[in-house]
Amino acid sequence: MASKQALNILKLKKMKRKGEPIAMVTAYDYPSARLAEEAGVDMLLVGDSLGNVVLGYDSTIPVTLDDMVYHSRSVARGAEHTFIVADMPFMTYHGSLDETLRGVRRLMQEGHVHAVKMEGGAEIADTVAAVVRAGVPVLGHIGLTPQSVNQLGGYRIQGKDAKDARRLLEDAKALQEAGAFGVVLELVTEEVAAEITKLLEIPTIGIGAGRGCSGQVLVFHDLVKYTDNYREKRFVKTFADAGSLIKAGIEGYVKEVKGGLFPAEQHVFGAEEGVVGSLYGNKESKPEQEAVQQTDNEAERKVGAAR
Ligand code: KIV
Repeated sequence: MASKQALNILKLKKMKRKGEPIAMVTAYDYPSARLAEEAGVDMLLVGDSLGNVVLGYDSTIPVTLDDMVYHSRSVARGAEHTFIVADMPFMTYHGSLDETLRGVRRLMQEGHVHAVKMEGGAEIADTVAAVVRAGVPVLGHIGLTPQSVNQLGGYRIQGKDAKDARRLLEDAKALQEAGAFGVVLELVTEEVAAEITKLLEIPTIGIGAGRGCSGQVLVFHDLVKYTDNYREKRFVKTFADAGSLIKAGIEGYVKEVKGGLFPAEQHVFGAEEGVVGSLYGNKESKPEQEAVQQTDNEAERKVGAAR
């Protein structure tokens, strides 16, 4: 569980005031969280995008609260000093307030995150306000909201015309008014995102929302290209090609196993002389039980040292 986290919502607001860019990335498990923390991110998001990039679904809709809790917990173990936000998954904050707060409680108590994110604008402002009143920081999320992809008619750019721009601005203001500590702007035109950022006191975190936001968030698997069926997206820059590297490594392994090259001399453990003979009743070796026991102990020691 986080104890010495580097950031909190007050520091975030200060970063916005000072114009210091905020770097956020998603993480879904222990190793990705550790790598991101060591790389110096300001904030981690356990995004329900895990549905797409980790669980193999074609949207975020099937992701459950249990999935989010499970993944949040491993992220929290990997990034003990980083501020962690987790997504409230599809339809877990549109019923009763009791149900919403139960979900929030599970993410915080079982998932060990510091804040939650909810998709939606003015229509969820009362819910956001109630969660904030309960003492939990909330990150808003407007623009393209993947949980409503079927209603939005696909993954479309938001804020292209004046009516849409006004709606986005009103949503952002409603979230600020409700006490959200920041707002994610997803797939929003650059001009509109920059204007919203100017008009808000709280930071905006953009993904496909241009250069005028207070910070940026990218999906871990996009930024390091950690997949085989990678699809280019205009708003993503791939900073590393981990997918190709990992695949080449596994191909090398398969080739060496099939070619009898792995394991080699340096990867194996030897038994004491005579141990094999003792399996066939060779009296000159140590009493069977003792010899096998000693070999087991030695192997365990070597395996321990190798780890
Ligand atoms: O789930 C997610 O990864 C997100 C980001 C795209 C902001 O919500």
